[in-house]
Amino acid sequence: MNTATGGPCATASPLSQTDWLKPADELTVVSGDPAQGGRVIIRGHDNIALIRSGQDWRAAEATERALYFEEILPTLQAGMDFLRDNGESVGCYSNRFVRSIDLDGNELDESYDIGHWRSLDLLERWAESHPTHLRIFVTFFRVVTGLEKLRLYHEVSVSDSKHQIFEYINCHQHTGMMRDARVSSPV
Ligand code: HEM
Repeated sequence: MNTATGGPCATASPLSQTDWLKPADELTVVSGDPAQGGRVIIRGHDNIALIRSGQDWRAAEATERALYFEEILPTLQAGMDFLRDNGESVGCYSNRFVRSIDLDGNELDESYDIGHWRSLDLLERWAESHPTHLRIFVTFFRVVTGLEKLRLYHEVSVSDSKHQIFEYINCHQHTGMMRDARVSSPV
């Protein structure tokens, strides 16, 4: 996470209070070619935003499970499908909605979305304007005071380009950051 001093420091104020955290540059392929498969390395850029939005219904009773499965999940799934299929139009480089499993491959009652965005600003624009998130948002505030065991949370971080190397081996050419990465022209 960026801080005003550029490093983790308990006394520094968060940089997001004083800086727009604007994106610099583009995603760039620095090695390999997504269209050819094999090994591809992509360099990120300053201020890519990463969100993990988690859902944990392991301890939830029947009423809260019904709330999650009937009122929240269908809308959440629609929002996640939108970002998976149309992310490029809103500044979402990659969006994966995944389910946790145990070591034997059994599904756990826990899932999360993990999304990489061109900037915090674009992520916030989507969250405050897309009908799916708005609907979830309204539902959440209607029920939040009564929630006991259902856990819904967001973690967001913004990082410098030096911390961003993305590597893909034999992946489809649109996997992860490859879809939106610029292939640098040979010199
Ligand atoms: C079950 C799923 C979700 C629920 C219940 C939920 C609920 C909420 C709520 C209540 C807020 C307002 C927080 C506040 O103002 O204190 C919020 C903000 C936000 N959410 Fe979600 N959300 C969910 C999923 C997601 C996902 C999947 C994303 C991103 C892909 C996302 C992105 C955001 C962002 C960026 C904000 C901050 C908006 C701003 O302050 O400008 N949310 N969400």
